[in-house]
Parts: sequence; C-alpha cells; structure tokens
Amino acid sequence: TWTTASVVEESVAAIREQVGSKRAICGLSGGVDSAVAAALVQKAIGDQLTCVYVDHGLMRKGESEQVEKDFVAATGVQLKVVEAEERFLSALAGVSDPEEKRKIIGREFIRVFEQAQAEIVAEAPGDQPVEFLVQGTLYPDVVESGGGTGTANIKSHHNVGGLPEDLEFQLVEPLRRLFKDEVRMVGKQLGLPDEIVQRQPFPGPGLGIRIVGEVTKERLDLLRDADAIAREELTAAGLDTEIWQCPVVLLADVRSVGVQGDGRTYGHPIVLRPVSSEDAMTADWTRMPYDVLARISTRITNEVADVNRVVLDVTSKPPGTIEWE
Ligand code: XMP
Repeated sequence: TWTTASVVEESVAAIREQVGSKRAICGLSGGVDSAVAAALVQKAIGDQLTCVYVDHGLMRKGESEQVEKDFVAATGVQLKVVEAEERFLSALAGVSDPEEKRKIIGREFIRVFEQAQAEIVAEAPGDQPVEFLVQGTLYPDVVESGGGTGTANIKSHHNVGGLPEDLEFQLVEPLRRLFKDEVRMVGKQLGLPDEIVQRQPFPGPGLGIRIVGEVTKERLDLLRDADAIAREELTAAGLDTEIWQCPVVLLADVRSVGVQGDGRTYGHPIVLRPVSSEDAMTADWTRMPYDVLARISTRITNEVADVNRVVLDVTSKPPGTIEWE
C-alpha cells in the first residue's frame, strides 16, 4: 500500500543502490520538484550530493534567499550558489523575441551549470567522481516527453534548474513515478517548509519571459515589485490554492497616459493573469473577487514607479497560453 513514508524509504534505498559511493549534483530552481528530489537524494547519500543554484537575476523577490536559507536549513544540503545575473543580462541585452530569450536563458544556464560542476570536481579532486545528475522529473513529464503533447512546438520550455539535457551524466530521477500532489506529500514528510512545498508553478526562464520587450535590470526590479505586491495580496486573501498561478506581466514597450497627484503620467501597464487549472495544459481565467483586484491595482499604481495602469487578462488557455511569452 502507498504511504508517503514507504515511498521515501524505498526511494532512499534505490538511490543508495544506484549511486553507491560516487558523487552527484543537482540543480535547484527554487521550484517544488527539484527541491524534493534534492532532499530525497540528500537523505540517501548526504554529502555525496552537491546542489547548485544559479542566480540568474530573473527570480522573484525573496526567491534566492528562500533557496539559500530555508532549503539549506531544512535539509542541511551542501549548496553552491552561482551569481550569474550580469552574465544573463548581458546575454539578453537587446533581445525582445520570446523564443530567442528562452533559448539564450537555456543556453547560459547550461554553461554556468557546467562551470559549477567543473569547480566542484576541482575543489575536491581526490574524491569520487561526480557521475550523477539529480533531476526532479515527475510522472507527467515522463508521459509527456514520451507521448508528445504538442506544446513543445509552441514554446521551448526550459526547466532551468533541472534540465541540462546535453550534459553527460547518469540521471537520478527519484520522482519519476509521482504526481505533483504526491511530490508535495513526500516533501512534507522530508520536513521541507510549506513555502517550498506548496509553491505555485513558476517558469524556469523566470521573469525574463514576463517582460514583453527587452529584459533590463530596471524593468526586472519594477516587475519584481509589482509581482511581490500581487502575491502578497493574493496570499492575504487566501487565494493561493484556488489560483493555480498568477503571472504578473510588464508590457515594457507599451505606454499610456494617466494622471496622478497633480500631473500627467506616461507609464507602463502591468497585466495580472490569474488562472485556474488542473495540469497547466488547459486553464481558465480565475473569477477572483473584485475587491482583491482593486487592492492589487491601487497598491501597484501607488507603490511602483512608472506603472500607471493595471489590467486583467480574461483569456482561457486555449487560446491564450498561461505565460505571455
Ligand atoms: P504555458 O505558458 O505554456 O505554460 O501555458 C504552462 C505551464 O508551464 C510553465 N512554464 C514553464 N515551466 N520552464 C518551466 O519549467 C519553462 O520554460 C516554462 N514555460 C512555461 C508555466 O508557468 C505554466 O505553469
């Protein structure tokens, strides 16, 4: 019979058997899947595992700190943090095309990850070789990549943090038989905090694909502020489970006229995209309370400089995708 405890126990035994005395690395994205996979492998092989977190500067407010502090505190994992903001931003400079952005982010991620891997080997050269790569692949991912869902033709998804496909490693995929809700139960069993286990999905390319237009540091900071306000209000209103996720999008190349205080403004719109979904393959826009929308709108226009309008996306998927890019 299926119990979370027995799944953990069996996985730990299987990981020990597979990895033996060799070493493994795991990319952390801040998402649920890579966190739970890493915690399981850590439980099985301890310090033979090193986690790598690439801070590409496209994360939301507080996310890097969450990985660096909460995750390490909960698991005691060995963590290597790579600061790569400048590298990613200069690679993205001047680029507005969504697919091009996705490809650049995926490519840079793999390069940084390879570099980190080489450093780990160099730091402890006498040790056992690093032969294994831990990935948070779930059962639906396995089915999707075998069955082909067609979405791959729409957007090139980069599971940044868990998917350096062209690296030469043996894979450790302890979540291959689990669904998302089961992964959350395993994470809870392993003692991971709710802020990690109950997290809503967030795309690997991060805020880079939530700025329609060129990605710059200023725009990222602005979007981070708007996004933090929306998340705070949604959480305060108790909507985190009803809403599958709520991308907050900056229309960086659009300006509209507004009036604030005693003057004219000419600022950017922020789009709220709250969706309800079972599996992200299809989605409906969430009919969320007007008073919550009003609070988010008032706060974003008051608190975020250069934003003078907040609009609501009322498109289902299909025809709209969840993310704007
Ligand atoms: P779309 O926009 O295709 O998104 O309707 C479906 C789900 O996937 C997430 N998403 C991504 N996740 N890497 C990821 O790990 C990606 O490149 C990526 N692009 C979209 C999106 O947030 C939604 O949950």
